[in-house]
Amino acid sequence: MSSSDFQLTRTLDENAAEAALRADVLHGLAQSPKALPPKWFYDARGSALFEEITRLPEYYPTRAEAEILRERAAEIADASGARTLVELGSGSSEKTRHLIGAMPALEAYVPVDVSGSALEGAARTLLDEHPGLRVHALVADFTKPLRLPESPGPRLVAFLGGTIGNLLPAERARFLASVRAVLEPGDALLMGTDLVKDEDVLVAAYDDAQGVTAEFNRNVLAVVNRELDADFPLGEFEHVAVWNREEEWVEMRLRARSDLVVKVRSLDMLVPFAAGEEILTEVSAKFRREGVRRELTAAGLEPARWWTDAGGRFALSLSVAVGAAGAAAAGGRTAS
Ligand code: SAH
Ligand code: AVI
Repeated sequence: MSSSDFQLTRTLDENAAEAALRADVLHGLAQSPKALPPKWFYDARGSALFEEITRLPEYYPTRAEAEILRERAAEIADASGARTLVELGSGSSEKTRHLIGAMPALEAYVPVDVSGSALEGAARTLLDEHPGLRVHALVADFTKPLRLPESPGPRLVAFLGGTIGNLLPAERARFLASVRAVLEPGDALLMGTDLVKDEDVLVAAYDDAQGVTAEFNRNVLAVVNRELDADFPLGEFEHVAVWNREEEWVEMRLRARSDLVVKVRSLDMLVPFAAGEEILTEVSAKFRREGVRRELTAAGLEPARWWTDAGGRFALSLSVAVGAAGAAAAGGRTAS
């Protein structure tokens, strides 16, 4: 790839990332019940394991969302008229390629991810396919206030995969408000949300027969071992996936198989586990249309379109900043 069409900016340098991990481990493993934020799954190995998950027979969300994107890409492109596509938590950008191919006005793509390795791999593929596209990748944490590079408007901000479900409700409200803050009149948010469905289907998607999700889950311990000189024995932690009916989210946990004490040397910390004790490593919330509408509206976003796959498993919504809807309609770009 040539340097003129690819730029990578690290808003999160290695020291800042390590400080954030230290703080999350200090806090998360001292509390009861123990918890670690899911963003630490995604080192190069975690990103590769996630890609493997997307191809598993049990893991339907990627295929369901790709189906919607394939069928609706032209409508989305037409509704947004975007010259810049910003994608939060872009990973491999694999599904986004359906969208990019359908956006005739697109000049710039701004993928944002904590995983530098995922960003570099994705940019390489995209630039091969779209030689005229400018790609400005950002290594950044999307749970922090967003700061986007200068790029031509209108902008479409995409948040795909159902990753919004990996945030807790208060984090989702903060996140949506920070997206709202960067939207200008005529800009839009395209968001993927996995939908509530049969418990067996949900649990199987997070506890696959080949054990890839279990490996992905345990990878967070490998990251803490490497980055903070800890000695988590990975084999002593069992992968657990449960449906929390009250909260309507799948919880991934790691359960200690025996009594043990883990040393986190760079924090001078000892973390005791009783046999059966768990670390909550991820929630993956599943949504209903009304809940998505409520959360978008509360953040000052106006839902404009809602699409699902034929099986009704997954939804994509398009929303605009309140106050911007009229302007976008006048420009002929707001969908009904
Ligand atoms: N959007 C892709 C990838 C989803 S996996 C898809 O739909 O298939 C979730 C992605 O979000 C990973 O690439 C991970 O590195 C990234 N991610 C997770 N938490 C993040 C955070 N707090 N800030 C930025 N990126 C994050
Ligand atoms: C990235 N995110 C939407 C995935 C999900 O389904 O919650 C992460 C994942 N966790 C286990 N499998 C996949």
